[in-house]
Amino acid sequence: METFTTNPPLMDNMGRIIDYARISITNHCNLRCCYCMPDGAQPDNTTLLKTEEILFICKSLSEVGISKFKITGGEPLLHSNVIELIKSLKQLPLVDQVTLTTNGVLLSDKLSGLMNAGLDGVNVSLDTLRPERYQKITGVAALHLVKQGIDDCLKKGMPLKLNCVFISQFNEDELLDFAELAKQNILDIRWIEMMPIGQGKRFETISNLQILKRLEQQYGTFKCSEKKGNGPAVYYEHPDFMGKIGLISPVSQCFCNTCNRVRVTADGILKLCLNYKLGFDLKELLKKEISQLELSEEIKRMIYQKPKRHAFGMTATKLETRNMWQIGG
Ligand code: GTP
Ligand code: 5AD
Ligand code: SF4
Repeated sequence: METFTTNPPLMDNMGRIIDYARISITNHCNLRCCYCMPDGAQPDNTTLLKTEEILFICKSLSEVGISKFKITGGEPLLHSNVIELIKSLKQLPLVDQVTLTTNGVLLSDKLSGLMNAGLDGVNVSLDTLRPERYQKITGVAALHLVKQGIDDCLKKGMPLKLNCVFISQFNEDELLDFAELAKQNILDIRWIEMMPIGQGKRFETISNLQILKRLEQQYGTFKCSEKKGNGPAVYYEHPDFMGKIGLISPVSQCFCNTCNRVRVTADGILKLCLNYKLGFDLKELLKKEISQLELSEEIKRMIYQKPKRHAFGMTATKLETRNMWQIGG
């Protein structure tokens, strides 16, 4: 049997173990969500990493201790090599898990390929179950395609979570409709608090604290789950529910002290925190024909400098000014 040496865990200056990277593979999107990518946003093609460059970076990340990769965008299923990329990542010896976050529009088309590539799970961003609202939020009449993608994942057994962001006085009344999906299907529904990043600053944050209360009024007590997942979501279970309820509450309950992640943007910036401008230009290093090992060493030094926590609402010059579609969520 082949054995691999395991490196010590990768740590930052706060002693947090960093083992998860969100890799944005494109800043293009086929939707125009009002709180993310307003009409007229023009993604730039010229600086995007090539597939080989993305893989080179991921390989160095895996060699310093990143074992879980989340593929994001923009919309990652627009990338022509997304399936090959996932397959290559899954073949790296130190990689445990590769998952994808998508808006789901192209999911049904690509699902077989993604499954054959070994994808471990899909998160679908979906803020409404009503066609006319969907078109209002995203600019596109594509809800039927997303629903088809969800149904296909359920049929084929692809682990699935839905991510819902509440927009004040627009979709909050769909709480129970979403909850019913987790009641009747093996999928998790997660609510993400609107974050004051990019276009998100124009919207009010609805605290997740109210969500559990409203669900308990309807269904009775939910129990906090043993399930931890890879990230900031806190999960709740109910005996009548097939799936779980997850809450991602960056605004009401800052989870930065247990942060385990870094991000690579589609243009090759290693970002250490969602909310800070601070980032290192890996593309520039690749231009200098840095070796795999040298890149790993550089990445380790960079990650050590990860900021302590986000600073939502503060007006410091160090804060992120980019939009979510330029960061990858
Ligand atoms: P899994 O549970 O492994 O699927 O990972 P995940 O929940 O991180 O994945 P997903 O892409 O579905 O992320 C959901 C959303 O949570 C992101 O789009 C962000 O909006 C938010 N989020 C994820 N990581 C962070 C983080 O480090 N900080 C903050 N503030 N928000 C985050
Ligand atoms: N706050 C919270 N979530 C956001 N997303 C995009 N912009 C924001 C924001 N400002 C979510 C999308 C998707 C995920 C990738 O990020 O709805 O679920
Ligand atoms: Fe596209 Fe996702 Fe942004 Fe919507 S939230 S515009 S689906 S990147």
